[in-house]
Amino acid sequence: MKVELIIQKAIDATKDCHVPYSKFKVGAAILMKDGTIVTGANIENSSYGLSMCAERTALYHAHLKGFRKDDMVSMAIIGPTTGPISPCGACRQVMHELMNAKTPIYLSNLKKEIKEMTPETLLPYAFSSKDLK
Ligand code: THU
Repeated sequence: MKVELIIQKAIDATKDCHVPYSKFKVGAAILMKDGTIVTGANIENSSYGLSMCAERTALYHAHLKGFRKDDMVSMAIIGPTTGPISPCGACRQVMHELMNAKTPIYLSNLKKEIKEMTPETLLPYAFSSKDLK
């Protein structure tokens, strides 16, 4: 599947955003090896700190559907940013846990500008399960 198409799926996913506070709509889409697309959107709360980013809703959505890191081909994320969106630190940590280190992550925006990264380039020297041993 073309990168532009996954980015379009991330844009389409913003229909599920719940952003009455920031009005800042972020969408995410994960392409699986079987062709399934799992999406995510940011969901805010009146208790602001409980808000959840699009990247994490997508990754948790995928996990609950039974998809694991080896099933994932790529992920696309879009936001209304000037350049390609930059995922927050918490999302980078979750990407590191639930995705393979070298899976492509296409960061984009509504102009469909693209910056390609991976969990390992987004979060070098990450804390991981290895540190718990
Ligand atoms: N947000 C995301 O969903 N992903 C990002 O990469 C950056 C920030 C959300 C959190 C909050 O709902 C809104 O965007 C403004 O920070």
